[in-house]
Amino acid sequence: MPLSQRWTLTRYLIEERRRFPQASGDLNALILDVSIACKAIARIVAYGALDSGMAVPAEGGAVNVQGEVQKPLDVLSNEIFLHMNEWNGELAGMASEEMDSPSQIPQVFPRGKYLLVFDPLDGSSNIDVNVSVGSIFSILRAPQDVIDSGRDVTEADFLQPGATQVAAGYALYGPTTMLVLTVGNGVAGFTLNPDLGEFVLTHKNIQVPADTQEFAINSSNSRFWEQPVTRYVNECLAGKTGPRGKDFNMRWIASMVAEAHRILMRGGVFLYPRDTKDPNKPGRLRLLYEANPIGFVMEQAGGRCTTGRQPMLGVQPTSLHQRIGLIFGSKNEVELIERYHSEPGPSAAPPPLFAERGLFRA
Ligand code: AHG
Ligand code: MN
Ligand code: MN
Repeated sequence: MPLSQRWTLTRYLIEERRRFPQASGDLNALILDVSIACKAIARIVAYGALDSGMAVPAEGGAVNVQGEVQKPLDVLSNEIFLHMNEWNGELAGMASEEMDSPSQIPQVFPRGKYLLVFDPLDGSSNIDVNVSVGSIFSILRAPQDVIDSGRDVTEADFLQPGATQVAAGYALYGPTTMLVLTVGNGVAGFTLNPDLGEFVLTHKNIQVPADTQEFAINSSNSRFWEQPVTRYVNECLAGKTGPRGKDFNMRWIASMVAEAHRILMRGGVFLYPRDTKDPNKPGRLRLLYEANPIGFVMEQAGGRCTTGRQPMLGVQPTSLHQRIGLIFGSKNEVELIERYHSEPGPSAAPPPLFAERGLFRA
C-alpha cells in the first residue's frame, strides 16, 4: 500500500475519538506523547554499545524496589517516559517499575485526569545480547477527588483493577519498532517508519487465534510449579501420544513483551505462574505494569488473561509493585489451564482403596 494511503497513529486516534463527539482529545494527546517516549527509547536501544554511556557497569547498577539490578537503559528509559509526559497537562501522576513510589507532576505544569503506569524497559536482561525488548504502558483515570483537587497522588490512587484501564499497549524494539495499542475498541499495531519518524498502522484489528500448539514457560522453575501447571506442561510434552493428541512446540525469549507480541501475531500461550520458589513473591511479573496492560491487549484481541484462578482484569491490586501469576494467550488453551486450576488436584482425590479398588464404589 502506498505510504500516502496508510493511517498514522495520529489519524487512527482521531478516527477513534470521532466515535465519542464529547471527548476532549486529552487521551489522544497523552498516547501521542507516550509514543514519542517509545520512539526515543527505540533510538537509544538501536544505538546499543555505540553509545558508551549505556555500557553495563562491571559492578552492576543501582538496585530498584524489586531488588533487581537496574541497567543504565532501565533508568534512562524511565526518565524518558517521565519527561515526555510530565508537561502535557494530561496526567495526575505516574508510576513505574523503576520507582519505589509514584512520581508527582511538577508544580510548574498543569495536572490532568489520567494516571500513567509503565514498565519502561521489559526484558532488559536481553539488552546485552541484542534480543528484542520493549516498553509496556497502562492508562487509568485518576480518582475523582484527585482530578477535582489537583492533590499529589498516592499509591492507593493506582490500585485499580485492570478492567478500569482506559488504554494500554506496548512498544517492541525488535527488527522493526512497533507500537501495539488498545483504547478499548480492539487492538491495532503500528510500525515505526524510520523515514517519516511516524508510527504507521500496519496491523488492523489484531485477533489472537483461539487454538495453538505453542507454549512458553521457563521450565527451570518446574520443581516449584503448582500441580495444574505441571499437569498442563506434561500433557503438552506428551504430544501426539498424550491426552492432547497433538505435538507442541516451545519458546522462551525472556522478554515478556516479545512473547506477547508473538502470541498476538500467531497464537500461543505464555505462563509465568504463581509458584513456590520464593514465598514472598507470588509470581514473577508485576500486576499493574506488566500483567494488566498485556491482559487488556490480549482480551481486546480475543485472547484471554488469567492468574489461573481468576481473570487478570478482575484482580483488585493491593500494592504498586505487586507480583502475580500470569497466564495469557489463545483463548481455548488459557481456558483449559483455568479448568485445571479449578479441578481438585491429586492430593484432594480419595485414596485408591475407596476410589479404584471398588470397596465403596458406586
Ligand atoms: P523486566 O526486564 O522488566 O524486569 O522483566 C523481565 C521479565 C519478563 O520480561 C520475562 O518474561 C521474565 O522477566 C523472564 O524471567 P526469567 O529470567 O525468570 O526467565
Ligand atoms: Mn518487565
Ligand atoms: Mn523493566
